[in-house]
Amino acid sequence: MLRSALMNVMTAAALKAGRVLKRDFGEVENLQVSIKGPGDFVTAADRRSEKILVEELSKARPGYGFVLEESGRIEATDKTHVWYIDPLDGTTNFLHGLPIFAISIALAREGKIVAGLVHNPATGDTYAAEKGQGAYLNNRRLRVAARRNISECLIGCGIPHIGKSKEHPRFQADLKAVMARAGNLRRLGSAALDLCFVASGSYDGFWERDLKPWDIAAGIIIIREGGGFVTDTEGGEEMLAKGSICAGNEAIHRDLLALIRG
Ligand code: 2AM
Ligand code: CA
Repeated sequence: MLRSALMNVMTAAALKAGRVLKRDFGEVENLQVSIKGPGDFVTAADRRSEKILVEELSKARPGYGFVLEESGRIEATDKTHVWYIDPLDGTTNFLHGLPIFAISIALAREGKIVAGLVHNPATGDTYAAEKGQGAYLNNRRLRVAARRNISECLIGCGIPHIGKSKEHPRFQADLKAVMARAGNLRRLGSAALDLCFVASGSYDGFWERDLKPWDIAAGIIIIREGGGFVTDTEGGEEMLAKGSICAGNEAIHRDLLALIRG
């Protein structure tokens, strides 16, 4: 378990926002059957979560900047530290009453991610990592899976939704290539949690394109501290700038990257 002052701050903020999201999730389940549906309510839940996270983190670390899904960028007096925050990753799942969603918090120092935390309020699970300190799920140290043969592997991915129709042919090409080699595929709909499932060894590998920095910043350090490999889909280090990601242990990352590269 990580017990630094920084981790305590991140954990406290995530648990506080998580309690509110969990309560709102209970309400969403009831709204499924209403004619209006839960759309507006979910947007409000997303904003409530972000407000709590910004308030709590600002109180504990005044002056740090923010890159936020809902409110954009908040410039800081402290130019070296930036939080990347997704107050509700897996919004579509949340909206549909599927308990696969998370709060994702990462801290960058001078442009390098130094800590990440992903909390799933529905299960109470918290994945966390700090540079050089390992990755944890609650109290348990995490390690990526050891499988080396992709035909035995469970590989996660992200599918572009209908609004991203320009991305569909690219995804279909990736899927065709990976399906021909990988044992089984999954699509769970929360990139932040998907990356944690690579770190914990549930997934052997994962790829997705067209993501935002707040979707993946925490997951990247959690995988690396779990002994995994993460690059963008061209094999470079520009995951946050390009929004693409390919992850796994050393062998599966290499094989997956070769299938989807570009
Ligand atoms: P979000 O739930 O915070 O939006 C799923 O493939 C990943 O893509 C999720 O991490 C999701 O994050 C992100 N994503 C961004 N925009 C999306 C949208 N309009 N519909 C579904 N997923 C979206
Ligand atoms: Ca997200």
